[in-house]
Order: sequence, then structure tokens, then C-alpha cells
Amino acid sequence: MTKVCTNTHLFDVYILDLLKKYKENKEPISVNFRDLVPQITNMDRYTHFIHSYPAKLLQQIPYFFLNNTIFSKENDIVLDPFCGTGTVLLEASVANRNAIGIDINPIAALIAKTKTSKENILKLKKELENIQALFKIYSSSKKQYRIPKISNIDHWYSKNNIRKLSKIKDVISQIDDTNIKEFYLVVFSICCKKFSYCDPRISVPVKINKDKFPEGHALREDAIKNLEFINKSEVFEYFIEQAKKNITRLTEYQNSSMMNSNEVIVYNSDIKHLAKKQIKKKLVQLILTSPPYVSAQKYIRASSLSLQWLELNNATISELDKQSIGREHFPKSEYDYLHTLGMNKIDKILSKIYERNKLRAYITYRYLFEMQESFSHYYQVLKSNGYFVMVIGNNTIAGYEFMTHKYLIEIAERVGFSTELILIDDIKSRGLMTKRNKTASVISREYIVVFRK
Ligand SMILES: C[S@@+](CC[C@H](N)C(=O)[O-])C[C@H]1O[C@@H](n2cnc3c(N)ncnc32)[C@H](O)[C@@H]1O
Repeated sequence: MTKVCTNTHLFDVYILDLLKKYKENKEPISVNFRDLVPQITNMDRYTHFIHSYPAKLLQQIPYFFLNNTIFSKENDIVLDPFCGTGTVLLEASVANRNAIGIDINPIAALIAKTKTSKENILKLKKELENIQALFKIYSSSKKQYRIPKISNIDHWYSKNNIRKLSKIKDVISQIDDTNIKEFYLVVFSICCKKFSYCDPRISVPVKINKDKFPEGHALREDAIKNLEFINKSEVFEYFIEQAKKNITRLTEYQNSSMMNSNEVIVYNSDIKHLAKKQIKKKLVQLILTSPPYVSAQKYIRASSLSLQWLELNNATISELDKQSIGREHFPKSEYDYLHTLGMNKIDKILSKIYERNKLRAYITYRYLFEMQESFSHYYQVLKSNGYFVMVIGNNTIAGYEFMTHKYLIEIAERVGFSTELILIDDIKSRGLMTKRNKTASVISREYIVVFRK
């Protein structure tokens, strides 16, 4: 079991020192979060690994920003408006903060909710026994089952796996208790990816192709092994194995947060509608988030198979995509002329990009415009003197290095925030990250900017 010190004063002295240094020099300070947080030795802590997701936040970052009394105190409210699978929410809960998460992606919201679930472990285990019994019935009899509507299903799955996944979906549909059902839907979603022909090295669905690599190449061997595993079709067995692992993880989380009185709420919603949600104005003490990048990750597309199997989305996948910040598809009529934000540095880079590529300029403009909209919401819900911590990297757009953090700082300051600290962490590849920099793809820099209202 992971032993983690949750002393909330842990980083106080160090943080005060960083804030002082930045105030004096106004220069970004280099840090290494892995070294800074030696308390985390095993990344499979609590429920962090219950389901994969592209560009998950490094756990050490929320751990650092939540285990101190400067940015927030116990029982304060912490908001992650782009919560993804809930890395911040989980760390906030263990550090005894109340947490609110928002994400447009129904799969991400489901994982985040399950990650911080207080569902009774005995009930989960009992349900797993029922599921196992039903699997036996479904395997041996000619029980009817329904195949969900999945576009191009035969391209992504073998007949055998379609049958078995559909049966699992049928079994889970029979669970009455919503929380228990959601827990098993997360396990099911793992299987939907694992038993598809999707290349596990790529976040969006792309078929495994062993012939892309020559005989003897390690990646060819990996592809062959993956295909063998998929074709063995041990879907029920794998489901049970993953369910047990996730029950163990949830038990560890619940044991660690047992004495805490906090609450975690997750909304599956568009951040642009945050104002309409129940988050009361001026109640949030800390906003801690890693927002999307300009056209860097296709979160909805990455989850598209699970979204179809789980039939979670009221909206269609393309509608969800249209609400995602950082998206790439726009009708030509929208980018026929140069759009600007009325901010010097930003307008300059937008017009440079426009010279090279009109669509890229519009994608960038829409990203910055929508981030500005979301920052205005943050300003409304944050307490006076509250903090907003943003983790973001740079990328390349139309051949220009796009210093995302600089432009977002300009926007945040226009909204009313003051910049209190900039940290830089050189991160080793976080897997599944879209290549953001043409020249240096393995090591990229992440900027952590601390704002104050
Ligand atoms: C960098 S990821 C966050 C990852 C998260 N920190 C984690 O550890 O799992 C950014 C998230 O922003 C979400 N997102 C994009 N546009 C959004 C919008 N308009 N409203 C809410 N969430 C959005 C994406 O679905 C994605 O999950």
C-alpha cells in the first residue's frame, strides 16, 4: 500500500521562497516536480491508473500544489475546469479539499467520478460475483443480447470480440445502482480499447499494422503480441481481472480519505457553460488545471470507440468535438479573414500565422478566444485573493513556436488576474502526447503559472 505524507504544511516554506524569488526577478524558475515530490515513489497510487487517458497530468504537480497551506487549506473548494480523468480531484480529495471537476468528454467525466467514488467496496465485490455468474450463463446459453451501434465495427473488432463485448454491455445494463454501474462501465471501457484492433501506442483509433515494421523490429514484435492477445478473445477473463485491480485501487483511495469529510463533484459539461452551473460565485479557493493545447490532442476522437460502446453521449461525437477547446475543424466561411483579439502580442502572432495558413490562424484565434471566455468564468467563481494555477506547454503552429503560456498570461492579466509565479519543468515524454515540437519531441517543457485574483 502506498504510504504518502499528507501533511498540508509540507511545501509551505519552499513555496514562500519561490514566490519571493519570482517577485524579485520576474523570471521563470526551473524545477523538477519528480524530484520535488519524493513522497511519490509508485505512480500506481490510489485510483490514478484505473483507466488510461491522453496527456494526463503528472501527479506530482497537484500533490505539490495541494499539500501546503498557501494556495488552499483543508475543506476549501478546489476547481479543475478541464478535469479530464480527475488527477487533480483525486489529489484534492486525499489532501482533504472539496473538489469540483468539469469535462466535456463523457468518458473522462465518468472516470473522474469513479476515481473518487465512495461506493461501498463490499457491494462492488458482491456485484462482481453476480457479473461472473451472468458471464457463465451468457457463455453457455443462447441468451439474446444487443450489439450497440458502432460505426465501422467490423473494421475495429473481430466477430468474437464484438459478441463478447456486447454481452458484457448487456450484463452491466442490468445493474440498477448508478454508482456501481458506472464503476463497471469504466472497466468495460478498458476492454473496449484493449480488444479492438487499435494501436495502443496511439491515442486516437489507428489500426495495428505489424507490416509497417521490418522483421525482427521490436515494434513489429509488439504488434504481433498485441494481435495474438486480441485474437485469443479472453474478454470476460480480462474484465474480471481489471475489475479486481480497480477494486483494490479504490479500496486504497477510500482507506486514505476515510477520515476526510470532503466532497467531489464532477460535471460532464462544456466549461463555456460553467456560469450556468451550480458553482457559487466567489466560493472557489483554488483553480488548478491543465487545459487543452491548440490542436494538440483529440480527446473526443481518442475516446470515440468507448463513447459508442457505452452509449453515454446525448450529443453525437461530432457535436462534442465542436464544443472542445483546441479543436481543428471549422467551416471555410469562418476563416476567410483575419480574426484578432485586440491584444498586441497575440494579434501579431495571429497575423504571422495567417500569412502562412488561414485555417491555423483561425484555430489559434478560437482557442485563445475560448480560453479567454473560460478565464472570465474562473474570475467570477474564485474568491478574492484566491489562486489559479495553470499547467501548459508550448507547441509549433504553422512553423512558429507558439508560446501558449505567454499568450494565456496576457489574457489572464486582461481578465484581472495578477501573475505571481512561473515555473518550468522539463518533462520526459508523457506518452501518448502528440508531438508538439518538430525538433525536440522527447523532452518538452511544461510551464506552471500561478495567478492570483
Ligand atoms: C489536458 S486534458 C486534462 C487532463 C487531466 N488533467 C487528467 O489528468 O486527466 C484537457 C481536458 O480538457 C477537456 N476539454 C476540452 N474542451 C473542453 C470544454 N469546452 N469544456 C470542458 N472540458 C473541455 C478535454 O476533454 C480534456 O479532457
